Amino acid sequence: MRHFRNYKEQKIEFQPGINLLVGANGQGKTNVLEGVYYLITGKSYRVKLENELIYWGEKNFYLQASFHASDRLIRLESYYETGKKVMKINQLASKRLSDYVGTVNAVFFSPDDLHIIKNSPQERRRFLDLLISQIKPGHILLLNSYLKIIRQKNNLLKKEKNVSLLRSLLQAWNEELAETGAKIIVNRWHFTQSLNQYCKSIFKSIFSPKDDMELLYLGLGKKSLEESLKIFPELLENKIDQEIEKRNVLIGPHRDDLLIELNGRSAKLFGSQGQQRSLVLCLKLAEMEIIRREKNEYPILLLDDVLSELDEFRREFLLNYIHTAGKQTVITMTGADKKMIHFEKNVFQVSNGKIWRE
Ligand SMILES: Nc1ncnc2c1ncn2[C@@H]1O[C@H](COP(=O)(O)OP(=O)(O)O)[C@@H](O)[C@H]1O
Ligand SMILES: [Mg+2]
Repeated sequence: MRHFRNYKEQKIEFQPGINLLVGANGQGKTNVLEGVYYLITGKSYRVKLENELIYWGEKNFYLQASFHASDRLIRLESYYETGKKVMKINQLASKRLSDYVGTVNAVFFSPDDLHIIKNSPQERRRFLDLLISQIKPGHILLLNSYLKIIRQKNNLLKKEKNVSLLRSLLQAWNEELAETGAKIIVNRWHFTQSLNQYCKSIFKSIFSPKDDMELLYLGLGKKSLEESLKIFPELLENKIDQEIEKRNVLIGPHRDDLLIELNGRSAKLFGSQGQQRSLVLCLKLAEMEIIRREKNEYPILLLDDVLSELDEFRREFLLNYIHTAGKQTVITMTGADKKMIHFEKNVFQVSNGKIWRE
């Protein structure tokens, strides 16, 4: 890392298995995970603008890492300066983010992931879209075209005063919206099915036998894929008057939701904090398993301050999960939490933007 967050220049050699980043608050532990995540996904999960990632007072940042996969060595590089972003795989610059994402995979898990359950549908769509994008990079292109269509429609709705002209323009855009939107719904629906299947089996291990859960993708408010796809064009047509009145795009997968149910009820509305946290753990481990299934190897697991948030039983479950099959994991924690892990571990101390191996 060079000029990344509070790091001037830093190199770390993570080991197979469990790696701990240990240090007091504000020393730069999360910044390291952010660097790894950025390099792998081309995005920060904390900020929208790369400028914030540059060491204060500097002009650019540079990240580079070599990843040893089972049968190959992959080198990723990322450089950023004043709006210009370069991402390279084995020294070759990628034209588009979708050519880059998915080369190496990671799952990031922090206490903020509780937002997936607690916050607005946007968080849940983002969670699904990020997972799908790692496995099917074409999903990024779909989302980009879809956003463009929504923006165009919104522009028209705000600017075009001639109602009959507006109506026919909206109808034209709706055809494109239906086509691209349907593909997004199909992807999200299928991934929800897979997530549900893996979640359920993990759920059994960390909830009581009388509990059960269900994940349902609500495409256009409907639970079945066939129904959502069938009603889509008609819904778009029927909403035109209301859209003209409200001057806003009212329908499409940009408003869909992922319903997370615990014992037949919304986990968001009725789950306790502890239940919600355990459900997020299920979601994250299901994400690991889906990526493993698709890529034939486990993604790198990045755990930011989560161990101390889990009760002892679930913490042990998570640590055992990591330990079996030797998934490479980077865990941040404060010094006092170190004793929670009785497996072999590689410890790195983090202090004021400097890292050294213990
Ligand atoms: N762009 C930046 N340039 C320099 N320092 C930064 C930048 N962004 C954040 N920091 C510093 O990084 C520290 C936070 O690092 P973080 O990794 O979140 O800490 P923690 O060890 O608690 O996870 C803070 O001290 C903050 O001032
Ligand atoms: Mg932190």
